[in-house]
Amino acid sequence: MVISIINQKGGVGKTTTAFNLGVALVKLGKRVLLIDMDPQGNLTSALGAEEEKQSGTYELLSDDLDPQELVMKLEGQLPDLIPAHMDLAGFEIECLTLENREYVLDDKLQSLRFQYDYVILDCSPSLGLLTINALVASDDVIVPIQCEYFALEGLSKLLETMQVVKTNYNTRLSVLGLLLTMYDARLALSNQVYEELKAHFDEMLFQTIIPRNVKVAESVSFGLSVMDYDQSSKGAMAYSELANEVILKSTPA
Ligand SMILES: Nc1ncnc2c1ncn2[C@@H]1O[C@H](COP(=O)(O)OP(=O)(O)OP(=O)(O)O)[C@@H](O)[C@H]1O
Ligand SMILES: [Mg+2]
Repeated sequence: MVISIINQKGGVGKTTTAFNLGVALVKLGKRVLLIDMDPQGNLTSALGAEEEKQSGTYELLSDDLDPQELVMKLEGQLPDLIPAHMDLAGFEIECLTLENREYVLDDKLQSLRFQYDYVILDCSPSLGLLTINALVASDDVIVPIQCEYFALEGLSKLLETMQVVKTNYNTRLSVLGLLLTMYDARLALSNQVYEELKAHFDEMLFQTIIPRNVKVAESVSFGLSVMDYDQSSKGAMAYSELANEVILKSTPA
């Protein structure tokens, strides 16, 4: 299945979640492909793949290549990756003239999606055509929500956009869950955001909450998932728990 990690708000933990959830799923024996849908290429850097002059998501969307050729196999117990670079930003403009511009990614994933248990798309902080393409190609979305001021601002706009995509382009689309990130139990604000989400979106919330944990932030600078950096950290335990919950929620009963 294809899962978009999406929130048009910046810095809420999308890339961190795509990376660590992807690795945690591999550790549970799942076949995982990560696709970097963000021209910033943060996911690509996290996996240490930014130096390679390798083609990536831009070529996937723009060229007439076998998508298989764009998949990087990484060393170690890691997901496969289609990397992204700055040039991906060009797609948003170039695709404007295409007739089926919302379906480009969906088409390209037809052959790839069945080779993996999970294809995870790390979206950029915008609701532009790259993100719309991600939504049209997805079965599910995970929405990371940072426990911060204005956390819920923009959430209704996001859910509205998803509804538009569902109605017009992709009836499969559903919300796998809203995920609280960078939660700090000592902060009244964290608890306030949690209570507010619970009041309005209870049935959409993941049980798993990702705590604010310095190991999560540090691990990326070592090119490691938090599980590989410090297995016993709260961050590692939370992302492992999230992987189990994702499997549970995404497996038909
Ligand atoms: N659980 C956590 N604990 C501590 N720091 C975290 C945690 N999750 C993410 N961070 C840090 O927060 C910052 C933003 O995270 P991240 O890059 O994943 O967000 P993003 O939503 O992908 O951002 P963008 O919108 O720019 O793509 C990073 O510096 C990251 O290391
Ligand atoms: Mg990101």
